Amino acid sequence: MEYSKRMNNLPTQFFAVLAGKTAAALAQGRDIINLGQGNPDQPTPPHIVKALQEAVADPATHKYSPFRGVKAIRQAAADFYMREYGVKIDPDLEVAILPGTKTGLVELPLALLDEGDAILLPDPGYPDYLSGAPLAGVSVELMKLEEKNAYLPDYEALSPAVVEQAKLMYLNYPNNPTGATADEAFFEETVRFAKENDIAVVHDFAYGAFGFDGVKPPSFLQTEGAKEVGIEMYTFSKTYNMAGWRVGFAVGNAKIIEALNLIQDHLFAGQFTALQLAAAEALTAGQQCVTDLAALYERRRNVLVREANRIGWQVTAPKGSFFAWLPVPEGFTSITFADHLMENADISVAAGSGFGETGEGFVRVGLLVDEDRIVEAITRIEKLNLF
Ligand SMILES: Cc1ncc(COP(=O)(O)O)c(C=O)c1O
Repeated sequence: MEYSKRMNNLPTQFFAVLAGKTAAALAQGRDIINLGQGNPDQPTPPHIVKALQEAVADPATHKYSPFRGVKAIRQAAADFYMREYGVKIDPDLEVAILPGTKTGLVELPLALLDEGDAILLPDPGYPDYLSGAPLAGVSVELMKLEEKNAYLPDYEALSPAVVEQAKLMYLNYPNNPTGATADEAFFEETVRFAKENDIAVVHDFAYGAFGFDGVKPPSFLQTEGAKEVGIEMYTFSKTYNMAGWRVGFAVGNAKIIEALNLIQDHLFAGQFTALQLAAAEALTAGQQCVTDLAALYERRRNVLVREANRIGWQVTAPKGSFFAWLPVPEGFTSITFADHLMENADISVAAGSGFGETGEGFVRVGLLVDEDRIVEAITRIEKLNLF
């Protein structure tokens, strides 16, 4: 049987390949330090688990759920945005509940673009941004994120033809994979650029909870006019260690939100009510668990930067997210360096080129192991005498 052209055009799942390599090494009984993936290592906070347990025991949650989410989670998302960012959100018109934000990111090209249109994506960027375009039959145009521009795209560098074709753009700060953050000035420039060129903006705020050195990452929607051009995606996966629960939401521009809700009316029949109620609890309960988690990642970041610098590996401290973006030593590509670490130091890291061509020359390290494992990883690398 032949698969459809759409399926054949799907990119290779970068993380699936990486996870396979790591799993094979672990299966050989090797003591692999896994710095390659973005799967939070801490458990979901107990009060959220308890909320799910209570909700699941109530038969009222066992029926079909409303297609567009129960009111409690839509209201909780609106209240969260007011409390955390001072942004007013209409819970009925400006919230879409998603089975993980990855799903929303794949749905949007299908919902908003036609053949001949293009989506602007960051390079390097979260690999799953590439999944929606071939399904929708639209082209991808890349915006380079370079160190010299603090890993922000340079809109001026895009050709007029590309800007003309582009109808949708994804941004992500704090950034996966570089750990860079964006400021208000950049978001203001983005709103201007989007308005001038009629481009819908999706800001993926997956790592919004993790800003370091006392700086809280701004929401895109705090910028004047942002809601006229775009939406923000917010996942529970990272903020509340709920990656396996598959729940997130989008907020912002009512027309884009309606497009997401409409496509989901056709793809899904709502999400489990009990899960939505527990997710609402995550947003509305005290946020000490989030403060503690951000502090944990900042401590791990500090240990990584200190240890790397100790062995002569010049690294820039990430300003947010739970990733560090480290330069590859002379004589290696990002892939040969990642392979070298796996073969000779039992360390898994993600090769930068897996996030796009501009990621060449770097590897991404996840801060998702204990501090002593980070120290151990750098000690193993020190023995390779590369720096
Ligand atoms: C930048 C970014 N966006 C979105 C996601 C997907 O999150 P979710 O679990 O909500 O699908 C991830 C997960 O790693 C991510 O790194």
